[in-house]
Amino acid sequence: MNAPVDSGPPLRGSASSPKNVLLGVTGGIAAYKTPDLVRRLTARGCTVQVVLSRGASRFVTPTTLQAVSGRRVRDDLWDDAAEDAMGHIELARWADVVLVAPATAHFLGALAAGLAGDLLQTLCLATAAPIVVAPAMNRQMWASAAVQSNCRVLTERGVRILGPAAGEQACGEHGMGRMMEPADIVDALLERRDGPLAGLKVLITAGPTREPIDPVRYITNRSSGKMGFAVAAAARAAGADVTLISGPVSLATPAGVRRIDVETAEDMYREVHRAVPGTDIFIACAAVSDYRPQTVAKEKIKRTESDMRLELVRSPDTLASVTALPNPPFTVGFAAETHDVEKHALEKLERKRVDMIAANLVGPTCGFDRETNALTVYWRGGRQHFGESTKCELAGRLIALVAERYRAERGSGTPAASRGQKPRR
Ligand code: PMT
Repeated sequence: MNAPVDSGPPLRGSASSPKNVLLGVTGGIAAYKTPDLVRRLTARGCTVQVVLSRGASRFVTPTTLQAVSGRRVRDDLWDDAAEDAMGHIELARWADVVLVAPATAHFLGALAAGLAGDLLQTLCLATAAPIVVAPAMNRQMWASAAVQSNCRVLTERGVRILGPAAGEQACGEHGMGRMMEPADIVDALLERRDGPLAGLKVLITAGPTREPIDPVRYITNRSSGKMGFAVAAAARAAGADVTLISGPVSLATPAGVRRIDVETAEDMYREVHRAVPGTDIFIACAAVSDYRPQTVAKEKIKRTESDMRLELVRSPDTLASVTALPNPPFTVGFAAETHDVEKHALEKLERKRVDMIAANLVGPTCGFDRETNALTVYWRGGRQHFGESTKCELAGRLIALVAERYRAERGSGTPAASRGQKPRR
């Protein structure tokens, strides 16, 4: 839980596009961003009713929030005039979703404990609507056992947790604990019904794998996960329902993306095959270890005077195993090459039987663990080069091309879920 999380996909069913958003604001410095959050929600067609906790008005004024929401801000359970207009139980029923942003450590504790100490806490107990929280606090507070335990309780009860994000904090420290940006919160909350991948399920792998040698050592590679995470964010921005299976990285989960963390190539293979039924597009961006130690020592291997040899065996090839399924999704591989990029990429396109392959030159100074990259994408009968640019920019272009090729090859693209792909476990 100490990792950044979005504990669920965008709201589904009747609340897939919540119209009435009850926005709870609690007392943290990130509250200054809430007028922007309200503005973005109203721009997407939501009616926003703001409810402030006692501490919130120290960071943002009710007048500002009233001006941007166009509704009287509520902050008191004992406000007779407000209760006469719409009582707190009525308000709890009115909400399609309760969003608490920022959610302080204190508020998360109160919610986990089921307290009804103020109007916002009472509303959370009284509502049948989904509850979504965007925590914001100092990184040590976020990492504390108490906050993590409260978050686990809340997740088990179905509360969705957005973020927090990593970065510079108001207290001057750097780390995990910033409130997710308002634009990302809105994207995570509201399902996109447009975009070139709307209605499609996209499965993406990212990052390296770690193959243990003994309890303290492992074999890995230079992948940071940046390219795969950027592809996941771009697919989500294009309207897809995105699942991201990631090796060990230290990156925040893109907003609205479901994330599964794995360690080894075998874990990745297993989780991909669990997630692949119903998938329309599979994009394999992970740098999966091709080999793993044949045996893993139970205890730390001691240094001896003589040389030592590691016996390695092949790891399963996740990408090739997906394209070998009876009814495979549209599949995009990556090829990481240090030389003869085109030759090796075209060989992998055929050998792994993928629909497209995105090739990049890699080494200690390019491809891996950098903000920029360059890609050449190949498919049968075509190619497209994307010159050096940020991984975010490249990911957006790659996703636009994948959407185009997917439509070209799979016609109107009846989603796999409707084609009745068989689960394979
Ligand atoms: O993570 P970054 O630091 O941002 O770096 C990005 C990147 C360089 C890792 C990325 O752009 C990239 O090239 N990813 C693929 C790396 C790789 O393992 O390539 P490959 O040529 O060895 O493998 C070919 C394809 O088979 C890949 O899609 C890979 O995910 C897949 N594969 C490989 C081996 C294996 N056992 N299972 C697999 O699924």
